[in-house]
Amino acid sequence: MPLVTTKDMFKKSMEEHFAIGAFNVNNMEIIQGIVDAAAEEHSPVILQVSSSAIKYARIGYLRKMVEAALEEHDIPIALHLDHGPDFETCKLCVDNGFTSVMIDGSKYDFDENVRLTKQVVDYAHAHGVVVEAEIGKLAGVEDDVNVAEGDSMYTDPIQAKEFVEKTGCDSLAIAIGTSHGAYKFKGDPKLRFDILAKVKELIPNTPIVLHGASTVIPELVDMCNKYGGNIPGAKGVPDDMLHQASKSGVSKINVDTDLRLAMTAQIRKVFAEDPSVFDPRKYLGEARAQIKETVQHKIRDVFGSSNKA
Ligand code: G3H
Ligand code: 13P
Ligand code: ZN
Repeated sequence: MPLVTTKDMFKKSMEEHFAIGAFNVNNMEIIQGIVDAAAEEHSPVILQVSSSAIKYARIGYLRKMVEAALEEHDIPIALHLDHGPDFETCKLCVDNGFTSVMIDGSKYDFDENVRLTKQVVDYAHAHGVVVEAEIGKLAGVEDDVNVAEGDSMYTDPIQAKEFVEKTGCDSLAIAIGTSHGAYKFKGDPKLRFDILAKVKELIPNTPIVLHGASTVIPELVDMCNKYGGNIPGAKGVPDDMLHQASKSGVSKINVDTDLRLAMTAQIRKVFAEDPSVFDPRKYLGEARAQIKETVQHKIRDVFGSSNKA
């Protein structure tokens, strides 16, 4: 089947209370690991590309590899721009066949975020492409979101409603305590499910997106460290919280860090166990298998999107 937008998969996710995994892709092995897992689970899936992934892999290669995945598998696949920094990057992706783009105006004040998002919505909608926007700021590595001052980082539900009404965006990323990368919490993991509930109450028909939602899978961190890595104290969002989020109105869950860990842990293991290996297919093939297993676990055991294709 051809690439789809996220419209139908999000509608189903809101009706049936599950989330769709949005996985960041940078190369062939990552794409194959993800779509092989989604196909085996008969799950819809979102492949997302950041602007730095475009710089790295080049847009034509990414698009053609995704096209190859579509020829092999009969599941709904959306191709999405992750964290579009400006109008031009969003336009580039719309013009290159992406079915969904994110404009990340969260770094601007409310009015500028509205203006920029609306500009992208007008262009994307005229080309049949859907738009994700963001309101509220995800905490950085250094920010302790568990303290009261951290409240200013969280999405204000009333502002979220006004933002969606003013921009006409199709889905909305909100800040409820997650953050990007491998160091998400200083203390115990904590998400503001009360904010999520309020947002869903005010804008029940807007699909909600959770960024910075990797589990930072402890087994993969341990594997990295065991085979020569040095990433101590990494901590992510536990599976049970992500499961709760997917049952409570989150339609899209973004995962990049866990795929990086899966790939790196497996490659480190191959090299450590057999220093004579130098055929890239040997270590990249095992990395692909580890990515597949990681994605399959999320789809089946955490997000609940198996058999929702
Ligand atoms: O949220 C950001 C994603 O993890 C993409 O990261 O810009 O390094 O590709 P990147
Ligand atoms: P993680 O760093 O938690 O994987 O988040 C990825 C993400 O939000 C991509 O937009
Ligand atoms: Zn993100």
